[in-house]
Amino acid sequence: MIVIGSLIIKNNVILAPMAGISNLPFRMMAREAGCALAFTEMISANGLVRGIEKSQQYMKSCIDDKPLGVQIFGNDPTTMADAVRIVDDYGADLIDLNMGCPVKKVVKNGAGAALLKDPGLVSQILESVRKATRKPLTVKIRSGWNLQSINAVQIARIAEQQGIDAVFVHARTAVQGFAGSADWRIIEEIKNSVGIKVIGNGDVKSGADAWRMIKMTGCDGVMIGRGALGNPWIFNEALNYQSTVQTHSEPVLNERKEMILRHLERETIFLGQKEAVKRFRKHLLWYTKGIRGGASFRSRVTTISDQNLLLREIEAFFDQEEIPYQ
Ligand SMILES: Cc1cc2nc3c(=O)[nH]c(=O)nc-3n(C[C@H](O)[C@H](O)[C@H](O)COP(=O)(O)O)c2cc1C
Repeated sequence: MIVIGSLIIKNNVILAPMAGISNLPFRMMAREAGCALAFTEMISANGLVRGIEKSQQYMKSCIDDKPLGVQIFGNDPTTMADAVRIVDDYGADLIDLNMGCPVKKVVKNGAGAALLKDPGLVSQILESVRKATRKPLTVKIRSGWNLQSINAVQIARIAEQQGIDAVFVHARTAVQGFAGSADWRIIEEIKNSVGIKVIGNGDVKSGADAWRMIKMTGCDGVMIGRGALGNPWIFNEALNYQSTVQTHSEPVLNERKEMILRHLERETIFLGQKEAVKRFRKHLLWYTKGIRGGASFRSRVTTISDQNLLLREIEAFFDQEEIPYQ
């Protein structure tokens, strides 16, 4: 269990915000596997304040989708505070501010990871948003802008001074993008420098990795992104690993099939058949990675747009007599 501001979270394994991926169906798959807190993808503060429908839709949720973290991005203190009020009214349990996104169209507007280059503005934004809500407020940062300007400790200290409740740290610089490997030492440095909760992030691909990150850095929890793609049971594995120091075996194929069908059903309810099939194909690629025969299955399903056909392919693939893992 961890406590972030006024929010009690049942365990320390958290689903990362991922644009184009962490919608309601995906969050529910993660929750079912034990994830304690899940995030929407990043939402433009500007879009929310201007009432843009697409921005509002990213917050679509349901009663079981709890606790819900909503992440916003932007760079204007007043707009960010207005967006925080909107998200608060909407019913978010926790509001996160994106200060780590390295994507060009975000940083060119001074938002996301670009903020790491301007600690003064970070301070102003945090002061402004803190006045806008009593709900738990967090920031998600990277180690720094580039290797020459690692300043995550400074940013975390500013966050603490401004009354922010926790910091999520992706242990890479913005310039690194996803290259190389995450350097978890920065997570430990931050943990040793602030009293607020510190959640580590970056390259947790298994339950063992989650356990190692906690042991190595002393962080209060782990946030998992890519490791959950086609692999929601990573949350269960991470929890098991912490309690028994044993790995949790992968689900048998039949369980994997059931999971896929449940996920597809959720996407269908959420998006409608056509859009669900389109969006689900990428999940299928992830779900079948490492399974023998997966390559030809994947090449067949990438062009399918009819749900019945897709279901038939899934059934046929998993109902072969024996499909060992590669
Ligand atoms: C497809 C994709 C979309 C992402 N979208 C967001 C986002 O909307 N907001 C955010 O803070 N981070 C985003 N991230 C970064 C992740 O939250 C996470 O910090 C990063 O992937 C490192 O963690 P991992 O190694 O567990 O994947 C995204 C990552 C991926 C792969």
